[in-house]
Amino acid sequence: MSGRLDGKVAFITGAARGQGRSHAVRLAREGADIIAVDLLDGMDTVPYPLATKDDLEETVRQVEALGRRIVARQGDVRLVADLEAAVEAGVAEFGRLDIVVANAGILTMGNDTPKAFLDVVNVNLVGVFNTVAAAEPHLQPGASIILTGSTAALLVGTVDRGGAGGLGYAHAKRHVARLGHDLSRVFASRRIRVNVVHPTNVHSGMMDNDFMYHAFRPDLENPTKEEMIPSLETKSPMGVPWLEPSEVSEAVMYFASDEAKWVTGQQLKLDGGQLGPVTDPGVPA
Ligand SMILES: NC(=O)c1ccc[n+]([C@@H]2O[C@H](COP(=O)([O-])OP(=O)(O)OC[C@H]3O[C@@H](n4cnc5c(N)ncnc54)[C@H](O)[C@@H]3O)[C@@H](O)[C@H]2O)c1
Repeated sequence: MSGRLDGKVAFITGAARGQGRSHAVRLAREGADIIAVDLLDGMDTVPYPLATKDDLEETVRQVEALGRRIVARQGDVRLVADLEAAVEAGVAEFGRLDIVVANAGILTMGNDTPKAFLDVVNVNLVGVFNTVAAAEPHLQPGASIILTGSTAALLVGTVDRGGAGGLGYAHAKRHVARLGHDLSRVFASRRIRVNVVHPTNVHSGMMDNDFMYHAFRPDLENPTKEEMIPSLETKSPMGVPWLEPSEVSEAVMYFASDEAKWVTGQQLKLDGGQLGPVTDPGVPA
């Protein structure tokens, strides 16, 4: 069966679980082979567990079950050498690179230390920069770079109020929005596209954890996921508590595909109506 990405290769960071795994599986279903990277370790300023080796193995299993190939590596997006090594291993195996999904991220909300600010900026902004830098020498005309922002990049008075770590998250994501805009100009003459997806809350390990249950239900001693959900719903004009990772993958798939071959510099807000009345006019539309 022919797919929309037959013969293409996608490099995805943070691919062990959540949105990254979902993107890997979605693109593989359309025929892409995958180069996957994940940290496979915790970070002391992150108040929830990050992905494990088993998680990355599950991504490998799901991609291979679709009949596609995958090169999966431990790697830290803060270290450009890790990313270069993964990309080079993948290109040696598959012969090319067409799609980059800079997705890895952390949330250090609630931690009011400078280190929490610096860590999240290092992963969520410097890591995105490193991902593009590692991929760039291999990209040909027609390639597509997709960065993961967040509605937090475009709202004021939400995560940016969550201590130094929350402010760092917003800082990083706002700069990812700007980076996507400016990189789209830088790459245009090579016919390489750069777009940004900005999801609202997503049902992944970043939101579905004990720390977040407490953050959204401070009135309860031991809140559960089910008790957090109504609080998420009331913050959404459309009453959606969170998106499923697969719903974000449809937007990534569009930007990755030739259907979007002249679409670049976009900031696509998957926001359930959250941004309508309050978009920061300083962020490019
Ligand atoms: N979950 C949400 O509500 C939400 C909303 C908007 C945007 N986002 C963004 O979406 C992206 C994906 O997050 P998710 O929702 O799938 O959460 P997640 O925590 O399930 O996935 C993030 C992945 O990134 C990996 N990672 C973290 N630090 C890394 C590093 N230094 N190097 C390599 N890998 C690293 C983690 O191990 C994990 O597998 C992130 O950029 C996040 O900021 C998430």
